[in-house]
Amino acid sequence: DFDLSARNTLALRARSRFGLLIDNAALLPALFDHAARENLPIRILGGGSNVVLAEYFDGITAILSQFGHRVIEETAEHVLIEADAGEPWHNFVAWSVDQGFGGLENLALIPGTAGAAPVQNIGAYGAELADFFHSLTAYDRTTGDTLTFDRAACAFAYRDSLFKREPNRYVVLAIRLALPRRWQPNLRFAGLTDLSDAADLSPRLVMDRVIALRTSKLPDWRVHPNAGSFFQNPIVSLDAAAPVLDEFTQAPNYPQAEGLTKLSAGWLIEKSGLKGFRMGPVGMSERHALVVVNHGGATQADVAALAAHVKRTVHHRFGVNLHEEPIFL
Ligand code: EPU
Repeated sequence: DFDLSARNTLALRARSRFGLLIDNAALLPALFDHAARENLPIRILGGGSNVVLAEYFDGITAILSQFGHRVIEETAEHVLIEADAGEPWHNFVAWSVDQGFGGLENLALIPGTAGAAPVQNIGAYGAELADFFHSLTAYDRTTGDTLTFDRAACAFAYRDSLFKREPNRYVVLAIRLALPRRWQPNLRFAGLTDLSDAADLSPRLVMDRVIALRTSKLPDWRVHPNAGSFFQNPIVSLDAAAPVLDEFTQAPNYPQAEGLTKLSAGWLIEKSGLKGFRMGPVGMSERHALVVVNHGGATQADVAALAAHVKRTVHHRFGVNLHEEPIFL
């Protein structure tokens, strides 16, 4: 019996029949063979920052614990850097910025591991993992092969990838990013734009600002257990957005290609009266309406009930459907 309540940032009450830390990818084939013989399901967990864990998993929960980062190759144009799956994402970002490499600074302080980062194509402050993604190495559970995926093969989209669409098939072992030597600051996002005037503009200055913004906006999961944004920002047709934008001309919206626009889920939830709303041991954060917070002792069922209520309420108020961002496991 393996307790997972300290291994998910929502701090949900969760256990697994077996739990295992794997510090060597060479052990994976034997592990999957063993599980198949014993008829036990296996799931892979990273930092537990984007999952809603069931109270009990009758199988093996495996956590890749191998961590580390390195420079793989330097050319005139790029520096190619690599992180092992178990490397905490922010460690990797902070190290790359320390080396003077620009590119990852907008993605500072995102919880979770490097191996989990491609699964939902993590993103923040106008950047996403896909921007500088080079390739990853993954173990294919169905064939037993270790494969390399380049960026196109990962099929990244907004908070999505091949690995999210085909859960239980691949185990990400290491990721590689190609950072251009000529740094292009990415300051389009509100809260960063004023930095373009800074005389000492550097990846570190941007990283420090991103850290300050995240710290001021998002509740700290160590204090108020949460899984970050709980819903994706809905991308809808202009027709579907019309009721929102007609009533609230100031509603945040980000036009996309082909007559679509991205609305702000946090804004919709707040305007539906649910900021700070509580339901049993869970609720929508008082600080940021898009974040589900565990006030103590919650389970997956509590989170699911709250999520359903929020979806219903927002749909009733605005006619917009929200979709959960974290993965229910
Ligand atoms: N807003 C409200 N009420 C709230 C919260 C937000 O009206 O309670 C409004 C804000 O005023 C703003 C808009 O909603 O106009 C957007 O809010 P914010 O800038 O906080 O960003 P977000 O769209 O809610 C996204 C990502 C975050 C990422 C931030 C910053 C998604 C689902 N979420 O949030 O990612 O950190 O932008 O780039 O795309 C995550 O995925 O877990 C995550 C935290």
